[in-house]
Amino acid sequence: MTHRIGIIGGDGIGPEVVAEALKVVDAAGLAYEPVPFDLGGSRYLRDGAVLPDADLEAISRLDAVLLGAVGTPEVPPGVIERGLLLRMRFELDLYINLRPFVAGPSHLNDGVDMMCIRENTESTYAGEGGFLRKGTPHEIATQGSVNTRFGVERCVRYGFDLARSRPRKHLTLVHKTNVLTFAGDLWERTFNEVATEYPDVTTAYNHVDAACIHFVQDPGRYDVIVTENLFGDILTDLGGAVAGGIGRAASGNLNPARTGPSLFEPVHGSAPDIAGQAKADPRAAVISAVMMLEFLGEDTIATRIRTALAATDHVTGSTPEIGDAIAGAL
Ligand code: IPM
Ligand code: MN
Repeated sequence: MTHRIGIIGGDGIGPEVVAEALKVVDAAGLAYEPVPFDLGGSRYLRDGAVLPDADLEAISRLDAVLLGAVGTPEVPPGVIERGLLLRMRFELDLYINLRPFVAGPSHLNDGVDMMCIRENTESTYAGEGGFLRKGTPHEIATQGSVNTRFGVERCVRYGFDLARSRPRKHLTLVHKTNVLTFAGDLWERTFNEVATEYPDVTTAYNHVDAACIHFVQDPGRYDVIVTENLFGDILTDLGGAVAGGIGRAASGNLNPARTGPSLFEPVHGSAPDIAGQAKADPRAAVISAVMMLEFLGEDTIATRIRTALAATDHVTGSTPEIGDAIAGAL
């Protein structure tokens, strides 16, 4: 079967790292049909389009999407992020944002091997809120957090299933139940109820501020973490910084129900400061592509690329040089 894979290079270093990921995937002999999309800040600056309905419709019929990074300083913050990235997360129901952090011998915190699961469709990202009396001295801004039993439960269940599949079988819920007494209560109750169905999985709870301390001082304590959208956003940048580096931080925006494609992307952004200089580490894009292959059931090719990544972990150089080294080690 030939997979139809959407390719969104995007902006800044996005196209540079995606080119290397495709170089590696090609060298590994994957049979696929690339379906390129011209989306991101540069497209928006040209014709004002963020995500045309026809593109979203075409994307929804693909098997998967590989995205580099989107956003450019010439476009006001949020336009591309919300109009493209978040719209795809919501409309394709990519409700799990899976972010692995694995540190090898040449990194800080060698031996860390954790999976962060970030709920990807709710919380403060849902866009609830608004202004009252905007621009006056009595202006009010609210920004709500939307948490549904359905959304929380499917995410928590994904966490227990993933923890069950790993040797340590340990799942930590991260939230802020002492202050967020409504959303936190729903998460905690759901977590504890689902836990009774998984007696083989051991559990822990950490407030998000305490989790930040543990990420810095003792990240090895974690196996699988499940958390809500905004905490997961912040915690996973920290995860990249303390384990493996942000240049190796990959992610899968998953639709585990497989009602449509899942989307895979590096956690780093478009990094306009180093764009066009071949300075970006393409590994986060390569690992994102490997996660995509695993999700598509291409385990043999995925394992070969993982082996090549491990064998070239110490390699430094320009973006294409690192891509060449990984492809050459296959
Ligand atoms: C991420 C990014 C996005 C997020 C932005 C670009 C909207 O930071 O994928 O972590 O906040 O989710
Ligand atoms: Mn982020």
